[in-house]
Formats: sequence, structure tokens, C-alpha cells
Amino acid sequence: MKKQSVIISTNLKDSLCQAIEACPHDKLFILTDETTEQLCKPLVSSIDCLKHAIPIIIGATDTHKTLESLAHVWTELSQQGGSRKSLLINLGGGMVTDLGGFAASTFKRGIPYINIPTTLLSMVDAAVGGKTGINFNGLKNEIGVFNPASSVIIDTQFLASLDIANICSGYAEMLKHGLISQVEHWSQLLQFNLQDPDLQELQQLVGQSVKIKEQIVEQDPYEQGIRKALNLGHTVGHAFESLALKQERPVLHGYAVAWGCICELYLSAIKTGFPTQKLRQTVQFIKENYGQFNITCKEYEQLYEFMKHDKKNASGIINFTLLGEIGDIKINQTATKEEIFEMLDFFREG
Ligand code: GLY
Repeated sequence: MKKQSVIISTNLKDSLCQAIEACPHDKLFILTDETTEQLCKPLVSSIDCLKHAIPIIIGATDTHKTLESLAHVWTELSQQGGSRKSLLINLGGGMVTDLGGFAASTFKRGIPYINIPTTLLSMVDAAVGGKTGINFNGLKNEIGVFNPASSVIIDTQFLASLDIANICSGYAEMLKHGLISQVEHWSQLLQFNLQDPDLQELQQLVGQSVKIKEQIVEQDPYEQGIRKALNLGHTVGHAFESLALKQERPVLHGYAVAWGCICELYLSAIKTGFPTQKLRQTVQFIKENYGQFNITCKEYEQLYEFMKHDKKNASGIINFTLLGEIGDIKINQTATKEEIFEMLDFFREG
């Protein structure tokens, strides 16, 4: 997979014009959703190199990550004279960068695209690493391709309009990157004031976080091995997300990942020797900033079923990424039903 250039921007105009210049094109398109069109486009629309960009707008939120929105983008690209030499800029959160990335990867067998993520979650996860796609048939990210953006421009000034809940949601993926990397970075992350975030300090932490993801994706772009490290917290996290959705009390992705990390670090402690003191410190930070997801033991069977149907599994065996220490990654681990129920007891009471 070709390498994307990730720019931690201190000057949006320069970074953007540089990224556009690196992709010679005949026509330039800019994709936003109804929210980023209003809140984020004004920050770039006066930039000279975007003067001739043709706008394409889709509905906001994950409910619009559909074949219909994708077809709308293809139609606009086609009707507005897009060619194989055109360039698409995706300005938005993970929904826009995933869908726009997929639209670009498939239009006329693929045109280049640039991601400008506008949420913390998309800056540290979705926009980086080449995963693109849409939801289909009720399943998340069911259709898509691996194909990296030419450039990803990360500028935390977009976060000024983001609410604390969405900052916390993105921060959960940063915490995950801390857990799979180095004790110093993990410790720095636990000291950050997430309830009153300093955007400059956050930009520096985001830079470190993105590097961790980049290094892993570079080693294993198609998730055959070490990229599974990025799934820490997600086997249980996705089960919490699915249960919450089914019970009509949806939760933000990162909250489910943070709660999933509590569970999977507990499994790490009992199965792969993760130090209990570091488990306690991480649990405390997550409980203070993300609260609790209320479940009772009556929901254990349902959560277990959701874990069994996770698309990361092979042959129906639940696949976990666990840790032996901060940065000591153990991929392709599994656990018995008893261990999983014990883990859920810890989550409720620990
Ligand atoms: N979101 C995890 C990955 O990009 O592999």
C-alpha cells in the first residue's frame, strides 16, 4: 500500500496548498456533510487554492454512511466533469473521510484524495491508515477498500467547535494508542485534563498518537498481523455499542472503546500478566472521564453473542488483542465464556 503523508498542521493554508500542489489535477472537489459545511468549511473557504473547488454535500452522521450518499458523490463527480485526473478533498469526521475515501477509490477506478479530519476521532483514527467504506445491509463498514489518502492534514483548530463528549470519544483511541506504545506516552495521556482540554497541548498529543498508528499501519497495512493491535478495547467495545443501539440508548464509539479497554485490560491482567497497578490507574481515568455503562448480569449472554459475531473473529472464536505490559502487544488471544463473564463482573464492580 502506498504511504500517505500525514501533516500536523500549524498553518492550514500552507499545509493545504502544499498537499493540493502535490496532486496535479484537472478539477478539484470538496466533500462535506451538512454539519462540517456550516462549522468547518468557513475555516478553509477563503483559502486561494480552494477557489475553484466544486462542493459536494451529504447528510451528516453515521445514518448517512450509505450507498445512497455514495451514489450522490459519484453522480456529482460524474456530472460536474470529474475525470481520472480529478482530486477530492474530504472535510469532515470519520463518516465523510471513510465514504469520501471510498468514493474517490472507486470513481473511474480511483482518483487521489486528501483528508482533512475535523473530529478528534477521525484525526487519530479514521482518516489515517487507508480504511475506506460505507455501512451496508445493517452492518458497519461492510463494503470498502484499503486505499490511503494522498495526504491527511491534521489541525486541531477544527476541534474548537467540537463538544466535550466528542473530544472524549476521540481521546479513547488516543488512550488505546498509549496502551499499545510506551509507558511515558500512556502516563502523559492519563495526566491530561480531558474535561477542560488545552487545544495546543492536545495537538502535541495528537501528533504522537497519529505517529503510533502510522508506524503500525506501515508494518501491516492490510491487518494480517500487528495492525490488530489497534483493535484493543474494540471486541468488547463493539459489543457494548451494539447492545446500546439495540436498547435504544446509543453511545459514542469512543466511550464504548474506553469501557471495552477496561474489560480487555482486565482479561490482560488475568491471562497475559498485565500489571494490576496500571490496570487500576487506567480504570480510574476512564471511570472519571467516561462514567459507567450500566449493564446487569442478565445482559451477559447477549454481550457474549455480540462478541461471537464480531467480524474480527475467524471460525467463530472470539479474537482479542491483549497486553502483557504497556506496549507488549499480544494479538490473536481468546478467552473462555467463564473468563468473559468474570471480566463483565469486574467491569460492573471493579
Ligand atoms: N481503526 C483501526 C484501524 O484502522 O485499523
